Amino acid sequence: MGETLKDLVTRRSIRSYKPEQITESELNTIIEAGQFAPSARNEQPWHFTVVQNKEILGKINEIIKEIFLNSGIDTYVERAKIKNFSPFYHAPTLIIVSAVEKSIAPHQDGALALGNFFLAAHALNIGSVWIHSLRSLFDSKEGKELNKVLNIPEDHIIIGSGAFGYNAGSIPVAAPRKENTVTIIK
Ligand SMILES: Cc1cc2nc3c(=O)[nH]c(=O)nc-3n(C[C@H](O)[C@H](O)[C@H](O)COP(=O)(O)O)c2cc1C
Repeated sequence: MGETLKDLVTRRSIRSYKPEQITESELNTIIEAGQFAPSARNEQPWHFTVVQNKEILGKINEIIKEIFLNSGIDTYVERAKIKNFSPFYHAPTLIIVSAVEKSIAPHQDGALALGNFFLAAHALNIGSVWIHSLRSLFDSKEGKELNKVLNIPEDHIIIGSGAFGYNAGSIPVAAPRKENTVTIIK
C-alpha cells in the first residue's frame, strides 16, 4: 500500500495533546493541503482562521463551556462540568473553517478542506480532530464579541473546526467500520 493510502486508513481522531506548538512549516503544509481541496466550480469559498493565541483559545474554551452548561442537554452539561474541560482537548492550534454562505456548496467545500487538513497533519505525525462545538460559538453574544478579534468574514458561515497538535497519548484503535454501506452495480 502506498503512503497516501496508508495515511487514509491509519488517521485517527486524537483527543489528547502536548502543549508544545506545531512548527510554522508544519502549519503551512497543513493549510496548503486544505487550499488544494476540490471545491464546487473551483470557487474556493473558504477562509481558514488559525488560532494559536493562548488567551483567545482560553476565551473560546470559556464561552463554549458556558454554552454547554446552559444547553439543557444532560451530556453537554456533564461534559462541561468536568475539571479542566476543553472542547478542543487543549490542542495548541485550532483552525476554524468558514465559507461564503452564498457559494454553491459551502459545507461540502469546507468539509473537504478540513479533511485535507487532517490527512496532511497525520502525514506529518500531527494529531487532529474535528471540533463541532465551535459552530455554536458565534451564536452567543460573547462569541460575536470575540469575532471582532477573529475577524471571520461577515458573509461567511462557520463550517467546522479542527484541533491540531502533537499527540500526547497512544494512537487510538480504529472504531469498527459499519458493514453493508456499499452497493456496487456492475
Ligand atoms: C462532522 C464531524 C464532527 C465531529 N465532531 C467532533 C467533536 O466535536 N469532538 C470530537 O472529539 N470528535 C468529533 N468528530 C470526530 C469523530 O468522532 C470521529 O471522526 C469518529 O469517531 C471516527 O473516529 P476516527 O476519526 O478516529 O476514525 C467529528 C467528526 C466529524 C466528521
